[in-house]
Amino acid sequence: MSTVETKVNPAQPQITLISSSVGKKIFMAVSGLVLFGFVVGHLTGNLQIFLGQDKLNAYAQLLKDLPGLTWTVRVVMFIFLAIHVWRGIQLYFENRFSRPIRYVINTTVQAPLASRVMIFTGGGIFLYVVYHLLHYTFIITNPQYADLHDTLGRHDVYSMVVFSFRNGWISAVYLVAMASLCYHLSHAIPSFFQTLGLNNQNAEPKLKALGWILAILIFVGYSSIPSAVLTGIITLPEGVH
Ligand code: HEM
Repeated sequence: MSTVETKVNPAQPQITLISSSVGKKIFMAVSGLVLFGFVVGHLTGNLQIFLGQDKLNAYAQLLKDLPGLTWTVRVVMFIFLAIHVWRGIQLYFENRFSRPIRYVINTTVQAPLASRVMIFTGGGIFLYVVYHLLHYTFIITNPQYADLHDTLGRHDVYSMVVFSFRNGWISAVYLVAMASLCYHLSHAIPSFFQTLGLNNQNAEPKLKALGWILAILIFVGYSSIPSAVLTGIITLPEGVH
């Protein structure tokens, strides 16, 4: 009687975990956490606009004077954004096309709307980031703001932001993008805890509430800037027209 040998590839379990839906969700959760960290840090920096031209321009200049740190953050963010987008698209198509038979009646009613539209709110945020980089980082959409300098010769980021948000269309694009980010985060935050197994029936409503609270805080924080410009709370510095 012959015996059949089963060869076990020791790398197999890791590969299966990485390419499984659970593995993809772990990638989404960890990359999402890093991106969320950036969103919070960026908001803290941006809110300095309420402290005036000098403070915001000094902060922007500090980032320019630390190219090593700035470029490390840029590269790390780019890698995590790429992972998040790629895995998100894969998960979306897996969920969408994994059913062998299409249901006649749509049974997705039990899933909350925010969870079903993650791919669209995420896609909207991605498009916004592309526009935002062309707007403020590369100053391609409004090149006239590249030549703004304050009395200390620093790039006048403060006036660039005020001039931009005085345009109702630009402010509207930002406000819609911030609403999209808020809706995305309201589902992403509780989802993060679920993926990492830090959830149970008791904690679920609290985590959902936490998701909404943090998402709304981010929305209010970012939206306060175009809103303050449009309502005249933040104005151009003296001598700038
Ligand atoms: C009212 C809302 C916002 C304002 C006023 C704002 C302002 C700015 C400004 C002025 C810059 C250019 C900094 C400089 O080069 O000196 C910048 C860069 C950037 N912003 Fe925002 N931002 C806002 C919202 C957001 C949001 C919600 C995200 C992400 C979802 C984001 C992602 C980025 C990224 C990735 C960069 C490039 C950073 C770099 O150059 O390394 N921003 N932002």
